[in-house]
Amino acid sequence: MSSDHLIIFDTTLRDGEQSPGASMTRDEKLRIARQLERMRVDVIEAGFPAASNGDFESVQAVANAIRNSTVCGLARALERDIERAGEALAGATSARIHTFIATSPIHMEKKLRMSPEQVIEQAVKAVGWARKFTDDVEFSPEDAGRSDPDFLCRVLEAVIDAGARTLNIPDTVGYSLPGQFGELIRSLRERIPNADKAIFSVHCHNDLGLAVANSLSAVLNGARQVECTINGLGERAGNAALEEVVMAVRTRSNVFGCTTRIDATQIVPASRLVSGITGFAVQPNKAIVGANAFAHESGIHQDGVLKHRETYEIMRAEDVGWTANKMVLGKHSGRNAFRSRLKELNIVLESEEALNAAFARFKELADKKHEIFDEDLQLLVTDERAASAGDVYKLVSLRVCSETGEIPQAEVVLTVHGTEKSASAKGSGPVDATLRAIEVLVESHAQLQLYSVNSITTGTDAQGEVTVRLSKDGRIVNGQGADTDIVVASAEAYLDALNGLYNQLERAHPQI
Ligand code: KIV
Ligand code: ZN
Repeated sequence: MSSDHLIIFDTTLRDGEQSPGASMTRDEKLRIARQLERMRVDVIEAGFPAASNGDFESVQAVANAIRNSTVCGLARALERDIERAGEALAGATSARIHTFIATSPIHMEKKLRMSPEQVIEQAVKAVGWARKFTDDVEFSPEDAGRSDPDFLCRVLEAVIDAGARTLNIPDTVGYSLPGQFGELIRSLRERIPNADKAIFSVHCHNDLGLAVANSLSAVLNGARQVECTINGLGERAGNAALEEVVMAVRTRSNVFGCTTRIDATQIVPASRLVSGITGFAVQPNKAIVGANAFAHESGIHQDGVLKHRETYEIMRAEDVGWTANKMVLGKHSGRNAFRSRLKELNIVLESEEALNAAFARFKELADKKHEIFDEDLQLLVTDERAASAGDVYKLVSLRVCSETGEIPQAEVVLTVHGTEKSASAKGSGPVDATLRAIEVLVESHAQLQLYSVNSITTGTDAQGEVTVRLSKDGRIVNGQGADTDIVVASAEAYLDALNGLYNQLERAHPQI
């Protein structure tokens, strides 16, 4: 890659997943990975294979499915961790192992209980173990933001000699300030004798709200990879937001002198997908992907924009994937119209089979909804829930009675392991009654941690996308459902979460 290429390394599926409540199933990770590939992310960090069997399987599934992005697995600087990462990535077209060990005095002394010399030795060994699986090895000195720069130089020089190609400098606790962090990157590049043999990367956390500023300051000082997440998801206050980094570099290309290969029109669909799957809503005033990011409210601004758009707009909403809520297709649209609208939206489905499945879902939706908007199409193609043939619980039918002055009642029919069962229940509202009726049949006794409804487009016939988060025995799963009827969407989301819970429990205790 030329030095004017800024590598975008997405860690939504790894660091993003470390946000409390954002854990994802293998299928959810696959859906997000496919969208990241569509967006032309260079590297997808798919998980931490040694962390659990579930994580191993997710990384493996992503590695087997993704062809146009490098797939990366995280590993501590331990032989066993690195072997697990290597095994999980075996099917990838392009695989990277990312290994790390802490280098700050506080981490080395209190957490690792290792001397600085032992840390260097372990780091070098780790890179060597990783190189047995792939030439593409990334090394991170964890908590670099609070490490001694002289010590960082020693560790980094040694790991480059051992074969690390990417040196990632993490501000693990979000402690750095932009000027100082940029200066750190510049001085490491200048002081490490073999620095030209590796690409410098940064990984900034947002504890002081500076993750994007610190990352950009690093880019100005020669970093050529930024680790980031969709919607800034991540541990505690999150990581640098991919959409902000990408659009800052693109909008101010004269200042940064580098470009990414990201297809920015896929940013808003990616943001929606991640927020739908995790149930983490995007605040309306969030840069780039917030609902108000391109809305002009004041008369002076509206007048200016109408006269000349650039008076108040530095980016175009459509360039990052916002669409004008215009009717694009309807019930009578055929496969060709469907295919060509997807093409206009830069959505390429990998096979004719995937196109057929998405078209079938489109026809189903068009039967219920008069006008199909771009947002509906984007949801259709990122929605691979239809591929859940192995689901234990499936909705057959739902009947809800809701009347002023009466207690709402729901009757549900489900298949449970293929056998049809029905139940009814009352509740404080139609959604509550529906979920209670499902619970009568499933008896999960799971705790409902989150229930959120989001309208995909405007209008009362819009599809509602529901996210439900359930927890049981320390496991947390999210489920989604989308339908023009939000009670149906709620039932689908609840069942989706129950299926996720069932699969997780079954994986952990195969005898159940
Ligand atoms: O924040 C951090 O230090 C990390 C490393 C594993 C790169 O996530
Ligand atoms: Zn991190």
